[in-house]
Amino acid sequence: MTDRTHTAAVNGATGAPLWLLAELTYRCPLQCAYCSNPLDFAAVKEELATEEWLDVLAQARAMGAVQMGFSGGEPLVRQDLETLVAEARRLGFYTNLITSGLGLDEARIAALHAAGLDHIQISLQASDPDVAAAVAGSPKAHARKLAMARAVKAAGYPMVLNVVLHRHNIDELDAIIALCDELGADAWSWPNCQMYGWAQLNREGLLPSREQLETAEATTARWRERLAAQGRDMRLLFVVPDYYNDRPKACMGGWGAIFMTVAPDGAVLPCHSARILPMTFPNVRERPLREIWYDSEAFNRYRGDGWMREPCRRCDERHRDVGGCRCQAYLLTGDAAATDPVCSLSPEHHRIEAARHQAEAGERSVTGLTPRNVHESRVFCRA
Ligand code: SF4
Ligand code: FES
Repeated sequence: MTDRTHTAAVNGATGAPLWLLAELTYRCPLQCAYCSNPLDFAAVKEELATEEWLDVLAQARAMGAVQMGFSGGEPLVRQDLETLVAEARRLGFYTNLITSGLGLDEARIAALHAAGLDHIQISLQASDPDVAAAVAGSPKAHARKLAMARAVKAAGYPMVLNVVLHRHNIDELDAIIALCDELGADAWSWPNCQMYGWAQLNREGLLPSREQLETAEATTARWRERLAAQGRDMRLLFVVPDYYNDRPKACMGGWGAIFMTVAPDGAVLPCHSARILPMTFPNVRERPLREIWYDSEAFNRYRGDGWMREPCRRCDERHRDVGGCRCQAYLLTGDAAATDPVCSLSPEHHRIEAARHQAEAGERSVTGLTPRNVHESRVFCRA
């Protein structure tokens, strides 16, 4: 937790946002079964226009935000991406593109470079092309991603390769790390799948077993030693997933503490998943960003600790983990103000234990996952 977050979490004092995540679109050529976009993404028909995004960037920077991510969906679907990147850079943001790599080609890499983009993060689904195809819903995407990762490096970009781990690819971690190494990535990241959006729908089919996690942790440790022996300074992080912890994470560094997401239609959220919560989020088309951040009911609802229930309310750890994740609490208990059930002190912790037991029982096929798709999204809209 940063000093700023800590201050906000403890005193309820609201500092400026540090991070702006611009989710430019929910459109995407892939169908990842763990997509963090909302299940009813098809209900969001309209996207902010270029001029509106430019205004959002200016407002966020004026408030003090310094880091910015362009994501989606697939942000490369937006033909104005280069314009937005150039403006973000001009305003003084450190800019990061979070992409599948589809929609990228040498010309666009050059255009993004000219626009001043600082950093590209490409996601891979696996090292095994068949697993990658099954998870992304595309037989051709994997080869294209590898080609684009090479092109990004050839253009001299700092590149992060990101591989979300789950029960169908975690056993190939050794090969995944070798692939990241071979592609020349400057940083590697393999977060365990977070169970939001489509991943929550597919949770039973995605959650790894404890044995798989232990093997993956040992693989990471082996690579750490190997790289250190080669004198290479790579930070390899293996973070145990929430469902195998007995304390929750301080999600987003605290609600409305350092992070804000602007969704494709202009809704402003304290995290990328918050649309699932039974509350109304303000929109940049209706209110200035500063007013939304400091004064809106949505951003203030879970700031500080006044909203907490037992056992968080009197817990000594409440300023460290801020009671966990509001979205996870809602998804698992139906109450967004509940203690995150990941916490072993939560009366609902049995839900996490039950999910773990399910993960230990039986094999599940990667082809049994529900891909992110418009048809199902429409069904969720109607519901
Ligand atoms: Fe954190 Fe609440 Fe659990 Fe205490 S009871 S450790 S504050 S989640
Ligand atoms: Fe929304 Fe944690 S993902 S608060």
